[in-house]
Amino acid sequence: MSATIIDGKKVAKDITEALRQEVEALKAKGVVPGLAVVLVGENPASKKYVSSKEKTCESLGIKSLGNKIPENTTQEELMKLIDNLNNDPKVHGILVQLPLPKHLNEKEVMHAISAAKDVDGFGPDSLGRLVLDEPGFLPCTPHGCMKLLESYGVDPKGKHAVVVGRSVIVGKPIALLLLRQHATVTICHSRTPDLKETCLKADILCAAVGKAEMIKGDWIKEGAAVIDIGINVKEDGKLVGDVEFEKAKERAGFITPVPGGVGPMTIAMLMYNTVEAAKATVK
Ligand code: GUN
Repeated sequence: MSATIIDGKKVAKDITEALRQEVEALKAKGVVPGLAVVLVGENPASKKYVSSKEKTCESLGIKSLGNKIPENTTQEELMKLIDNLNNDPKVHGILVQLPLPKHLNEKEVMHAISAAKDVDGFGPDSLGRLVLDEPGFLPCTPHGCMKLLESYGVDPKGKHAVVVGRSVIVGKPIALLLLRQHATVTICHSRTPDLKETCLKADILCAAVGKAEMIKGDWIKEGAAVIDIGINVKEDGKLVGDVEFEKAKERAGFITPVPGGVGPMTIAMLMYNTVEAAKATVK
Protein backbone atom coordinates (compact mmCIF):
# COMPACT_ATOMS: atom_id res chain seq x y z
CA MET A 1 0.00 0.00 0.00
CA SER A 2 1.21 3.47 -0.80
CA ALA A 3 1.18 6.26 1.80
CA THR A 4 -1.06 9.30 1.83
CA ILE A 5 1.18 12.16 0.70
CA ILE A 6 0.93 15.06 3.13
CA ASP A 7 0.31 18.23 1.13
CA GLY A 8 2.17 20.94 3.02
CA LYS A 9 1.43 23.57 0.40
CA LYS A 10 -2.30 23.08 0.85
CA VAL A 11 -2.19 23.09 4.67
CA ALA A 12 0.07 26.18 4.63
CA LYS A 13 -2.31 27.96 2.25
CA ASP A 14 -5.30 27.21 4.50
CA ILE A 15 -3.41 28.67 7.47
CA THR A 16 -2.29 31.82 5.64
CA GLU A 17 -5.77 32.39 4.17
CA ALA A 18 -7.22 32.37 7.69
CA LEU A 19 -4.52 34.85 8.75
CA ARG A 20 -5.47 37.25 5.98
CA GLN A 21 -8.71 38.00 7.80
CA GLU A 22 -6.88 38.52 11.08
CA VAL A 23 -4.55 40.98 9.37
CA GLU A 24 -7.58 42.88 8.03
CA ALA A 25 -9.12 42.99 11.51
CA LEU A 26 -5.86 44.35 12.95
CA LYS A 27 -5.65 47.01 10.25
CA ALA A 28 -9.20 48.10 11.09
CA LYS A 29 -7.88 48.72 14.61
CA GLY A 30 -4.98 50.77 13.23
CA VAL A 31 -2.31 48.07 13.60
CA VAL A 32 -0.37 46.93 10.53
CA PRO A 33 1.57 43.78 11.48
CA GLY A 34 5.25 44.33 10.74
CA LEU A 35 7.99 41.73 10.38
CA ALA A 36 11.64 42.81 10.31
CA VAL A 37 13.74 40.30 8.41
CA VAL A 38 17.49 40.66 8.94
CA LEU A 39 19.76 39.11 6.34
CA VAL A 40 23.50 39.40 6.83
CA GLY A 41 25.64 38.74 3.75
CA GLU A 42 24.97 36.85 0.56
CA ASN A 43 24.31 33.19 1.47
CA PRO A 44 22.27 32.05 -1.57
CA ALA A 45 19.96 29.69 0.38
CA SER A 46 19.31 32.40 3.00
CA LYS A 47 18.54 34.96 0.28
CA LYS A 48 16.00 32.57 -1.22
CA TYR A 49 14.33 31.88 2.15
CA VAL A 50 14.20 35.59 2.97
CA SER A 51 12.68 36.43 -0.38
CA SER A 52 9.93 33.77 0.12
CA LYS A 53 9.20 35.16 3.58
CA GLU A 54 8.95 38.70 2.22
CA LYS A 55 6.64 37.65 -0.61
CA THR A 56 4.30 35.80 1.75
CA CYS A 57 4.21 38.84 4.06
CA GLU A 58 3.23 41.10 1.18
CA SER A 59 0.55 38.72 -0.05
CA LEU A 60 -1.09 38.81 3.40
CA GLY A 61 -0.82 42.53 4.01
CA ILE A 62 1.92 42.10 6.63
CA LYS A 63 4.55 44.82 6.28
CA SER A 64 7.92 43.28 5.57
CA LEU A 65 10.71 45.51 6.81
CA GLY A 66 13.81 44.16 5.10
CA ASN A 67 17.21 44.78 6.63
CA LYS A 68 19.87 43.48 4.27
CA ILE A 69 23.27 44.26 5.65
CA PRO A 70 26.77 43.40 4.38
CA GLU A 71 28.77 40.26 5.16
CA ASN A 72 31.42 42.29 7.03
CA THR A 73 28.92 43.79 9.52
CA THR A 74 30.39 43.75 13.04
CA GLN A 75 28.72 42.16 16.06
CA GLU A 76 28.37 45.62 17.54
CA GLU A 77 26.56 46.94 14.46
CA LEU A 78 24.23 43.95 14.38
CA MET A 79 23.45 44.30 18.09
CA LYS A 80 22.67 47.99 17.53
CA LEU A 81 20.29 47.08 14.70
CA ILE A 82 18.50 44.55 16.94
CA ASP A 83 18.23 47.19 19.65
CA ASN A 84 16.65 49.63 17.17
CA LEU A 85 14.17 46.98 15.96
CA ASN A 86 13.30 46.03 19.56
CA ASN A 87 12.36 49.66 20.16
CA ASP A 88 10.53 50.29 16.88
CA PRO A 89 6.74 50.19 17.42
CA LYS A 90 6.13 49.38 13.73
CA VAL A 91 8.06 46.13 14.17
CA HIS A 92 6.06 43.31 15.80
CA GLY A 93 8.35 40.44 14.88
CA ILE A 94 12.10 40.16 14.32
CA LEU A 95 13.70 37.37 12.34
CA VAL A 96 17.45 37.10 11.92
CA GLN A 97 18.09 34.64 9.12
CA LEU A 98 20.52 31.89 10.16
CA PRO A 99 23.25 30.89 9.70
CA LEU A 100 25.08 34.13 10.33
CA PRO A 101 28.58 34.66 8.89
CA LYS A 102 31.18 32.85 11.01
CA HIS A 103 32.60 35.97 12.69
CA LEU A 104 29.23 36.77 14.31
CA ASN A 105 27.93 35.34 17.58
CA GLU A 106 24.49 33.84 16.86
CA LYS A 107 23.73 33.09 20.50
CA GLU A 108 24.27 36.67 21.58
CA VAL A 109 21.95 37.83 18.79
CA MET A 110 19.20 35.34 19.72
CA HIS A 111 19.41 36.48 23.35
CA ALA A 112 19.13 40.13 22.30
CA ILE A 113 15.82 39.86 20.41
CA SER A 114 12.98 41.08 22.59
CA ALA A 115 10.87 38.13 23.86
CA ALA A 116 7.69 39.89 22.66
CA LYS A 117 9.09 40.02 19.09
CA ASP A 118 10.78 36.60 18.96
CA VAL A 119 8.61 35.21 16.14
CA ASP A 120 11.23 32.61 15.21
CA GLY A 121 10.91 31.19 18.73
CA PHE A 122 14.67 30.66 19.04
CA GLY A 123 15.30 32.91 22.04
CA PRO A 124 15.70 31.70 25.65
CA ASP A 125 12.31 33.03 26.75
CA SER A 126 10.43 31.25 23.94
CA LEU A 127 12.35 27.99 24.33
CA GLY A 128 12.03 28.14 28.13
CA ARG A 129 8.27 28.55 27.81
CA LEU A 130 8.17 25.55 25.52
CA VAL A 131 9.87 23.41 28.17
CA LEU A 132 7.57 24.84 30.84
CA ASP A 133 4.41 24.24 28.74
CA GLU A 134 3.62 27.93 29.02
CA PRO A 135 2.19 29.98 26.14
CA GLY A 136 4.86 31.55 23.94
CA PHE A 137 6.16 31.68 20.39
CA LEU A 138 6.77 28.18 19.08
CA PRO A 139 9.64 27.61 16.63
CA CYS A 140 8.04 27.67 13.18
CA THR A 141 9.24 24.41 11.64
CA PRO A 142 8.37 22.14 14.60
CA HIS A 143 5.03 23.92 15.01
CA GLY A 144 4.36 23.40 11.29
CA CYS A 145 5.12 19.68 11.60
CA MET A 146 2.57 19.37 14.41
CA LYS A 147 -0.02 21.19 12.27
CA LEU A 148 0.59 18.72 9.44
CA LEU A 149 -0.01 15.74 11.75
CA GLU A 150 -3.16 17.39 13.09
CA SER A 151 -4.46 18.20 9.59
CA TYR A 152 -4.18 14.56 8.57
CA GLY A 153 -5.78 13.26 11.76
CA VAL A 154 -2.60 11.76 13.22
CA ASP A 155 -2.99 12.08 16.99
CA PRO A 156 0.36 11.58 18.78
CA LYS A 157 -1.38 10.47 22.00
CA GLY A 158 -0.13 7.04 23.06
CA LYS A 159 2.05 6.69 19.96
CA HIS A 160 5.77 6.06 19.86
CA ALA A 161 7.39 9.07 18.19
CA VAL A 162 11.02 8.91 17.12
CA VAL A 163 12.87 12.14 16.35
CA VAL A 164 16.16 11.78 14.50
CA GLY A 165 18.21 14.91 15.18
CA ARG A 166 18.65 17.00 18.31
CA SER A 167 19.12 20.54 17.04
CA VAL A 168 17.89 23.44 19.15
CA ILE A 169 15.71 24.74 16.32
CA VAL A 170 14.10 21.49 15.15
CA GLY A 171 14.87 18.21 16.92
CA LYS A 172 14.56 19.30 20.54
CA PRO A 173 11.44 21.47 20.12
CA ILE A 174 9.59 18.91 18.02
CA ALA A 175 10.31 16.25 20.66
CA LEU A 176 8.84 18.54 23.32
CA LEU A 177 5.74 19.28 21.22
CA LEU A 178 5.15 15.57 20.62
CA LEU A 179 5.56 14.96 24.35
CA ARG A 180 3.05 17.75 25.02
CA GLN A 181 0.60 15.83 22.80
CA HIS A 182 1.17 12.68 24.93
CA ALA A 183 3.46 10.71 22.62
CA THR A 184 6.22 8.53 24.01
CA VAL A 185 9.28 10.17 22.50
CA THR A 186 12.71 8.83 21.62
CA ILE A 187 15.35 11.31 20.43
CA CYS A 188 18.11 9.82 18.27
CA HIS A 189 21.31 11.44 17.02
CA SER A 190 24.70 10.68 15.53
CA ARG A 191 25.81 8.60 18.54
CA THR A 192 22.66 6.45 18.70
CA PRO A 193 23.42 2.77 18.11
CA ASP A 194 20.75 0.69 16.35
CA LEU A 195 19.23 3.68 14.57
CA LYS A 196 17.41 1.42 12.11
CA GLU A 197 15.86 -0.69 14.90
CA THR A 198 14.72 2.43 16.74
CA CYS A 199 13.20 3.96 13.60
CA LEU A 200 11.36 0.70 12.93
CA LYS A 201 9.51 1.17 16.24
CA ALA A 202 8.24 4.65 15.27
CA ASP A 203 4.53 5.24 14.76
CA ILE A 204 5.59 8.84 14.04
CA LEU A 205 9.04 9.38 12.59
CA CYS A 206 10.48 12.90 12.36
CA ALA A 207 13.71 13.18 10.40
CA ALA A 208 15.81 16.27 11.01
CA VAL A 209 19.41 15.26 10.39
CA GLY A 210 20.30 17.15 7.23
CA LYS A 211 21.73 14.12 5.38
CA ALA A 212 20.26 13.27 1.99
CA GLU A 213 18.09 10.11 2.10
CA MET A 214 19.88 8.78 5.18
CA ILE A 215 16.72 7.15 6.54
CA LYS A 216 16.09 4.15 4.34
CA GLY A 217 12.75 2.86 3.16
CA ASP A 218 13.12 -0.40 5.11
CA TRP A 219 13.58 1.58 8.38
CA ILE A 220 9.93 2.63 8.25
CA LYS A 221 7.28 0.80 10.29
CA GLU A 222 4.22 -0.20 8.23
CA GLY A 223 1.61 2.56 8.47
CA ALA A 224 3.87 5.10 10.21
CA ALA A 225 3.51 8.86 9.76
CA VAL A 226 6.80 10.16 8.38
CA ILE A 227 7.66 13.84 8.68
CA ASP A 228 10.76 14.74 6.69
CA ILE A 229 12.32 18.02 7.77
CA GLY A 230 15.50 17.65 5.69
CA ILE A 231 16.23 19.83 2.69
CA ASN A 232 19.33 18.55 0.89
CA VAL A 233 20.68 19.28 -2.56
CA LYS A 234 22.16 16.19 -4.24
CA GLU A 235 25.14 16.29 -6.60
CA ASP A 236 22.79 16.25 -9.60
CA GLY A 237 21.04 19.34 -8.17
CA LYS A 238 17.93 17.41 -7.08
CA LEU A 239 16.29 18.52 -3.83
CA VAL A 240 15.69 15.61 -1.44
CA GLY A 241 14.81 15.09 2.20
CA ASP A 242 16.45 12.99 4.91
CA VAL A 243 14.20 10.03 4.05
CA GLU A 244 14.43 7.75 1.03
CA PHE A 245 11.01 8.91 -0.15
CA GLU A 246 10.15 6.52 -3.00
CA LYS A 247 10.79 3.41 -0.90
CA ALA A 248 9.48 4.85 2.37
CA LYS A 249 6.13 5.77 0.82
CA GLU A 250 5.47 2.09 0.07
CA ARG A 251 5.50 1.34 3.81
CA ALA A 252 4.38 4.56 5.50
CA GLY A 253 0.77 5.49 6.20
CA PHE A 254 1.49 9.20 5.74
CA ILE A 255 4.59 10.92 4.42
CA THR A 256 5.70 14.48 3.64
CA PRO A 257 7.39 15.05 0.28
CA VAL A 258 10.46 17.27 -0.21
CA PRO A 259 9.80 19.86 -1.51
CA GLY A 260 6.15 20.64 -0.73
CA GLY A 261 5.87 19.05 2.72
CA VAL A 262 7.30 20.76 5.79
CA GLY A 263 8.93 23.69 3.91
CA PRO A 264 5.81 25.76 3.21
CA MET A 265 4.67 25.25 6.81
CA THR A 266 7.69 27.05 8.25
CA ILE A 267 6.68 30.28 6.52
CA ALA A 268 3.00 29.84 7.38
CA MET A 269 3.81 29.48 11.09
CA LEU A 270 6.14 32.50 10.92
CA MET A 271 3.20 34.52 9.59
CA TYR A 272 1.05 33.08 12.38
CA ASN A 273 3.57 34.15 15.04
CA THR A 274 3.87 37.62 13.50
CA VAL A 275 0.10 38.12 13.59
CA GLU A 276 0.04 36.86 17.21
CA ALA A 277 2.81 39.34 18.10
CA ALA A 278 0.85 42.19 16.51
CA LYS A 279 -2.40 41.13 18.24
CA ALA A 280 -0.62 41.24 21.59
CA THR A 281 0.03 44.98 21.11
CA VAL A 282 -3.67 45.83 20.72
CA LYS A 283 -4.96 47.28 23.96
N1 GUN B 1 17.61 29.20 8.70
C1 GUN B 1 17.05 28.04 8.33
N2 GUN B 1 15.79 27.95 8.83
C2 GUN B 1 15.57 29.07 9.52
C3 GUN B 1 14.46 29.56 10.26
O1 GUN B 1 13.41 28.94 10.40
N3 GUN B 1 14.62 30.79 10.82
C4 GUN B 1 15.78 31.49 10.71
N4 GUN B 1 15.85 32.65 11.31
N5 GUN B 1 16.82 31.06 10.04
C5 GUN B 1 16.71 29.86 9.45
